[in-house]
Amino acid sequence: MTDGKEVDQRLNALMTNVNAVRAVASAVEGTIGPKGMDTMLVDNFGSVTITNDGVTILEEMEATHPAAKMVINTARAQEKEVGDGTTTATIWAGALVTEGLNQVIRGVPVARVLEGMRVGIRRAISSFERRAHPIQGPDDPLLYKVALIAGRDQEDIAELIIKAARMVGKEKLLDPAFKLRDCISAVEGLENQVFEGVLITKGRLNKQMPQEVLNPRILIIDDALAPEEIEESVLTTEAGVNRYLRLREEFQENLLKVINLGVKLILVDRRVDDCAEEMLADAGVMVVRRVPYKEWYRVAEHTGAWPLKRTGLRKPPAELERYLGSAQRAWEDEEREQIRIEGGAGKPFATILVGAATEEVVGERERIARDAASAVQAALKGGVVPGGGSVELAVARDLEKAKSELRGMAAYGLDCVIEALKRPFTQIVTNAGFNALEKLGDVVAAQIEKNSDCLGIDCDSGEVCDLWEKGVVDPVLVKIHALKVAGELAEAILRIDTIIRKKDSRKDSGNLELEQKEG
Ligand SMILES: Nc1ncnc2c1ncn2[C@@H]1O[C@H](COP(=O)(O)OP(=O)(O)OP(=O)(O)O)[C@@H](O)[C@H]1O
Ligand SMILES: [Mg+2]
Repeated sequence: MTDGKEVDQRLNALMTNVNAVRAVASAVEGTIGPKGMDTMLVDNFGSVTITNDGVTILEEMEATHPAAKMVINTARAQEKEVGDGTTTATIWAGALVTEGLNQVIRGVPVARVLEGMRVGIRRAISSFERRAHPIQGPDDPLLYKVALIAGRDQEDIAELIIKAARMVGKEKLLDPAFKLRDCISAVEGLENQVFEGVLITKGRLNKQMPQEVLNPRILIIDDALAPEEIEESVLTTEAGVNRYLRLREEFQENLLKVINLGVKLILVDRRVDDCAEEMLADAGVMVVRRVPYKEWYRVAEHTGAWPLKRTGLRKPPAELERYLGSAQRAWEDEEREQIRIEGGAGKPFATILVGAATEEVVGERERIARDAASAVQAALKGGVVPGGGSVELAVARDLEKAKSELRGMAAYGLDCVIEALKRPFTQIVTNAGFNALEKLGDVVAAQIEKNSDCLGIDCDSGEVCDLWEKGVVDPVLVKIHALKVAGELAEAILRIDTIIRKKDSRKDSGNLELEQKEG
């Protein structure tokens, strides 16, 4: 038996956590939808970020409460997995824990609430899946709409993303390891552009090397481009010195071999030895050192090159040749110290350069483009549903129907999901300056009458309209994933009924840590 005091304490812990989650959710809910406002983030040094992006706000927010940090991790998970819908995920997390707490206060056991929530989320996901329309391929006009909606109506960005998606092709876009959003960089003072190829954010090693090479054969060294190292202590003996000299000689012979194979571009992961720099510059080879792994890996895929360690240079020419990639052109934009490799012989790649007028907007333009690119890929994978929070209302009605199948108090858990599903709609409408309750009634009535999940609110006029016809569509996977991560967070939070301050192991740590107990 638990006495009243213990129950009170448990509820206290739960309420503290729920309040922290709610506080985080309310920090981002004002940004959702086409009329969502931007947030200005300022740090102690006066550096400013202006954004509308949920995860960016959360990342930069000073959150000290552990439950708040858990929400931030939820948004991060959403960002990492699908790249868009971080605000939606946070709003859902906030709504699920709030509704869950309300049920617990009414006397529903936590276990029953969680049981109903799990059923609700599962049902909601299959209802979303049933309602999704497939996307045929990068040329499907719906895909442009997806890019436009996720890209906050910035037509130039939507066009760029679609152009890049076409260059890359459907097969590559469906590859789980490929992220179109990683092909984007925003550059101040540059025109928008997409080119078939990859970008290296470093300049060439030496200005005596050519600024442009045509039809280059390409070598990638995942290592330093230098003779093999030997221990200094060995150099005290004559044999050691001889070995050192032999290694240097061998290294130079290897470089000659590379030059004779017609290699015109060498990307090196680490440093480049002085003597190699000189030899290669004399031979008209473009060399780039300290190329980040991510970038040379992309070049390898795009040009068909296989990275080599320095010892690999010992291979005979015929074998070495098989490790070389090729492209139509490589050239350096000297002003920005960036190298472009275009027309590679391997897998297609596109680089998306988003132009931005000022430094302040560079970051936000890049984030918008990344959201749009993520949404485009997610839409191709799972299809699309009407946006504006409208399809969620139809899904909520599907759940109402499932309620009768649940026995006992678990139905209250299902109610939490139903309420949460309505939140994106009410928030989008509120942000557009309309009365959310009134509009909710209008839309639900219209959806039932016309038997359509496409009906929602036009955020300009406040009238009921067909969002599908207006081109307001969202990738279904973004919603499904957001609901999943929000459900996981809600479950974790609702299960916690004790907060214990851990013994201070580090001197400066005053942070609360959570101890989880079955609810
Ligand atoms: N013109 C529009 N009319 C109605 N709803 C819209 C319109 N444009 C976008 N939306 C809706 O806004 C929601 C997305 O808002 P927003 O992009 O601000 O948040 P998010 O995608 O959840 O998070 P993130 O901050 O990661 O982008 C979607 O439900 C989308 O359908
Ligand atoms: Mg978005």
